[in-house]
Formats: sequence, C-alpha cells, structure tokens
Amino acid sequence: MMKIRSAREADIGRLAAIWHDGWRDGHLAVVPAALASARTLASFRERLAAAIDQVRVARSHGELVGFAMFKDDELYQFYVAAEARGSGVAAALMDDAEAQLAARGVKTAWLACAVGNDRAARFYEKRGWRRVETVTYQSETSAGPFPVETWRYEKDLGP
Ligand SMILES: CC(C)(COP(=O)(O)OP(=O)(O)OC[C@H]1O[C@@H](n2cnc3c(N)ncnc32)[C@H](O)[C@@H]1OP(=O)(O)O)[C@@H](O)C(=O)NCCC(=O)NCCS
Repeated sequence: MMKIRSAREADIGRLAAIWHDGWRDGHLAVVPAALASARTLASFRERLAAAIDQVRVARSHGELVGFAMFKDDELYQFYVAAEARGSGVAAALMDDAEAQLAARGVKTAWLACAVGNDRAARFYEKRGWRRVETVTYQSETSAGPFPVETWRYEKDLGP
C-alpha cells in the first residue's frame, strides 16, 4: 500500500535520514571526499526545512520511503530508502514528480546525476529520461557551490 503526498514539517527527520543514507549510497564512491564531508545529516535537515514546500513523499505501510524535491524546472533531488529500492516505489514517485512538474507548466524537465551513479542513471533511462551531456554542476553546500561532474538528463513532459 503506497501513497504519495506533499511533505510536511513533521517528515523532515525521516526524510533527512533517507537523503543522508541515499546520498552516501549513490555518491560516496564517485565524488570528491571534500563533498562527502559537507553532507552531514544536519545539512540535509536544513535544506529540507528551507524547501519543504517543494517536496513530495512516498509512504508505504505507514513509513516514509522516498521523496522528490523540485527547483523550478529541475527535478532537484530524488531518493528512495534502501529497503524500498527495486520495489516499484521509485517508478511511482517518478510518475508523480513528472506530473507535478507538468502541472507547473514545465515542458522539459532536467536533472543532474553524478557521473558514475550507475544505478540512478539506469533507473532514469528506464523511465524515459535521456542523457544529453556531461556537465560540471555547482552542487549546493553550506560553504558555497561545490563543482561535481554530472550527467544531465532531460525529459519532455507533454504538450
Ligand atoms: C536512484 C533510485 C531512486 C532508483 O530507485 P530503485 O528502486 O533503485 O530503481 P529500480 O530498482 O527500479 O531501477 C534500478 C535499475 O538499476 C539496476 N542496477 C542496480 N545496481 C546497478 C549498478 N550498480 N549499475 C547499474 N545498474 C544497476 C537495477 O537492476 C535496475 O535495473 P533493471 O530494472 O533493469 O534491473 C534509488 O536507487 C536510490 O534512491 N539510490 C540512492 C540515491 C540516489 O542515487 N539518488 C539519485 C541521485 S541523482
């Protein structure tokens, strides 16, 4: 039983844990160590608190198991808890995220995936996102932008 809804302040603690753990799973092996040391649990809590109105969450059996965060036409963050990966939660959350972006008038959405995050890349490609270029992305940290090599993906969201 899965439900997707907008995030609430009370979700922040659990979402920060999903983000923190998922960030490590997807990035630790592929980004500079200096970026990893900036990615503390507290930093994710702060970023969630600042943008909670831009977040959709997936709940399964009463537990939060994933979230999507938007920034203008960018699918800015996309995370599913380890225990819910490979279960279809990610696909449902992505369908919802695309519908949310389309409802805001976004024609072509984009996202940045760290070069080497192969599981995420495979997932995006399965969902019809196309890799358009490799580009240096200025990743947000409390110490300012941190450059990361990324694959830019795009998807047309309809008429
Ligand atoms: C990215 C993420 C949301 C995808 O959700 P998911 O439930 O894992 O997605 P799925 O299982 O449906 O699809 C992943 C695909 O990658 C494949 N895969 C698994 N490990 C892989 C690897 N190391 N290299 C390449 N492909 C891999 C899976 O087999 C599956 O493909 P298949 O359906 O053809 O077998 C989830 O893995 C996640 O939250 N990861 C950690 C956080 C992250 O990296 N977020 C994205 C930031 S850009």
